[in-house]
Amino acid sequence: MEDLISLCKRRGFIFPGSEIYGGFAGTWDFGPLGVSLKNKITSEWWSFWVEKRDDIYGIDAAILMNPRTWVASGHTATFADPLVECKNCHGRFRADKIADGITESVTTEEFQKLNVKCPTCGKSDWGPIRKFNMMFTTHVGAVLPDDTDEELVSKSVAYLRPETAQGIFTNYKNIVDTIYPDIPFGIAQIGKAFRNEISPRDFILRDRECSQMEIEYFVRPDAWEEAFEMMLKENHRFLEEKMGLPKAKIHDLEVSPEDRAHYSKRTVDFMYEYPNGEEELMGLAYRTDFDLQNIARESGKNLEYRDKNTKEAFIPHVIEPSIGVERLMLAVLSSAYTEDEIDGSRRVVLKLPEHLAPYSFCVSPLLKNKPELVAKAREVYKLLKEKYGNITWDDSGNIGKRYRKQDEIGTPKCIVIDFDTLEDDTVTVRDRDTAAQVRVKISEL
Ligand code: GAP
Repeated sequence: MEDLISLCKRRGFIFPGSEIYGGFAGTWDFGPLGVSLKNKITSEWWSFWVEKRDDIYGIDAAILMNPRTWVASGHTATFADPLVECKNCHGRFRADKIADGITESVTTEEFQKLNVKCPTCGKSDWGPIRKFNMMFTTHVGAVLPDDTDEELVSKSVAYLRPETAQGIFTNYKNIVDTIYPDIPFGIAQIGKAFRNEISPRDFILRDRECSQMEIEYFVRPDAWEEAFEMMLKENHRFLEEKMGLPKAKIHDLEVSPEDRAHYSKRTVDFMYEYPNGEEELMGLAYRTDFDLQNIARESGKNLEYRDKNTKEAFIPHVIEPSIGVERLMLAVLSSAYTEDEIDGSRRVVLKLPEHLAPYSFCVSPLLKNKPELVAKAREVYKLLKEKYGNITWDDSGNIGKRYRKQDEIGTPKCIVIDFDTLEDDTVTVRDRDTAAQVRVKISEL
């Protein structure tokens, strides 16, 4: 993980958020290569689920939502982690993350009995377990948090959404009324979500600001099992075929009832073997009709779906695949990170799937100080740039150093213009993974 973090920073993939001011825990900034990789991942997801299927529709809802959303969803009451404070050093931790074999619903008595040592000072002197709500609060409108009118202040409270899912549920009726979809159908969204995590950790794995890609798939109440199996299979296909993740590193975990979120009757977590150990990559949950029923109650609106053929009316049940963009990026980056030996020297190479690599090609002149080579290389660069867009130019250092740099950022092919090019219009194309070189006509690139 340390090597990967260092590569990501060194090559402009990912920087710590607000680094210039000493950082801001749980936030990350994406550099030119990182944002390119991130965009490729999200557009593959969108293409796979929205564009290539005819039963899933995309939306993009607001991050700030009416606070009644979070009452109806249960987040105001239950979106909380067990917080415990060390009485000796006053360090604050998520209780279920510093002791083995306990769940998020651990009680103070259960925790006290375990004699857990404080990760900071080593003492075992704990305060009570308190429930810490992870939603970020803000105030909407011309209200100051210290205004003396308490009612005005409390009425101005809003939250940064902790999941994109509620933007989907609250638009369910809009989609039904405007698109008239046949059931089963899904609504997909990609967007930011915010969680005041007690301990953000493991690079971009657990952040306070992340992006989620979520689908709510609406089905007849008696058809949920079939839809769940379809989603299990399709999500595996997406991760393995489109993201290039090794099948052997993805493990399905049937989540026990006490560990499931408050809305779920079945959850399978897709666990991934990250460099620091196995962690949740994504979740697949059967949310029943929990959300639509609650929204119908809170809003007073009828959220029944009327079957066009049978005229039956019912509240659909929901299957939800939910994946964090950063967790997926970390899985893609860590599975691509390779150290090997080429021509007797060690190298680091990012073996990214070609369609995810930030640059498809790097074009360079063999020698920087030969104007005729540079001019020809610029011609080839321009040609490819117009055709493919994501092409980079590199004339720094010697050719060996350029190859190492492009290997590290995962560029699949390096194209080199040399003296033969001036004679026969062919170039050298060097392959990232094998380092093999072939001559190709410019017109055939
Ligand atoms: N709508 C359901 C939901 O939000 P979740 O299990 O809390 O369920 C779903 O989150 C996915 O979102 C996770 O599997 C993970 O990929 C991502 N995720 C959640 N919290 C995250 C965090 N703090 N940092 C990065 N990704 C996170």
